[in-house]
Amino acid sequence: MARITASVYTSHVPAIGAAMDLGKTEEPYWQKVFAGYDYSRGWLKENTPDVVFLVFNDHATAFSLEMIPTFAIGTAGHYKVADEGWGPRPVPDVEGHPELAAHIAQSVIQQDFDLTIVNRLDVDHGLTVPLSLMCGQPKAWPFKVIPFAVNVVQYPVPSGRRCFQLGQAIRKAVESFDDDLNVQIWGTGGMSHQLQGPRAGLINREWDNRFLDRLIAEPEALSQVPHIEYVQEAGSEGIELVMWLIARGAMADVAGGAKPTVKHRFYHVPASNTAVGHLVMENNL
Ligand code: DHB
Ligand code: FE
Repeated sequence: MARITASVYTSHVPAIGAAMDLGKTEEPYWQKVFAGYDYSRGWLKENTPDVVFLVFNDHATAFSLEMIPTFAIGTAGHYKVADEGWGPRPVPDVEGHPELAAHIAQSVIQQDFDLTIVNRLDVDHGLTVPLSLMCGQPKAWPFKVIPFAVNVVQYPVPSGRRCFQLGQAIRKAVESFDDDLNVQIWGTGGMSHQLQGPRAGLINREWDNRFLDRLIAEPEALSQVPHIEYVQEAGSEGIELVMWLIARGAMADVAGGAKPTVKHRFYHVPASNTAVGHLVMENNL
């Protein structure tokens, strides 16, 4: 049986990817950001999963206003790195796990979540920057990835509550897969940031840190926060944080198991226009 062994939460700031690609990680500005991921890279080397179920958002790269799936699961064997306007990032393509992805699609849809099935998907910074932060610059990513895209770009967006429930359905789906796979679930995006309008540049440290506290200790209550609070308190792009609730909902304690162990917590401002937040949680199975 497959198992979700851990969850990882991280921002996906595109400038972080550019800093790595252009060799700027030792510059004082970026050094502080990357220092927060040193532990996690070591941890991931020691705890390399077979598959990462990677919850992210596409930024009108693969999808557009022509077609906006709320929740889309990648069932392909291979994903190309998207060209976001400056050419594709010089990072490896992503290998999928079609069998597990198809099984999760079947199980989650039968648990009444209407997923869109995507057999071709170019993955943008929402997916590649978390991989780079956690893995550095390898020749090939050290595990397979199931991309799971959530619409947090064009309203209406899904509620935190729905995302948290979906995470629970994903855990059940993974645990009903026959093969003995070690699976991690990553929730990405956030933390507070606003890229446009009169409030551009908004950061809310206090709200972000409370979000981290509550994600650890009381995720169910946190999932009740309405989307308008994310926008008011964490800025228009802070809504990306609902994706973290999918990963948290898939942890064992939510289904009556033991509390996870928080292996690492990091918060830093600024990285580009964004507050960077990061957590690593291990399940105690
Ligand atoms: C930035 C952050 C994002 O989440 C994003 O998708 C694009 C830009 C930024 O901080 O610059
Ligand atoms: Fe984003």
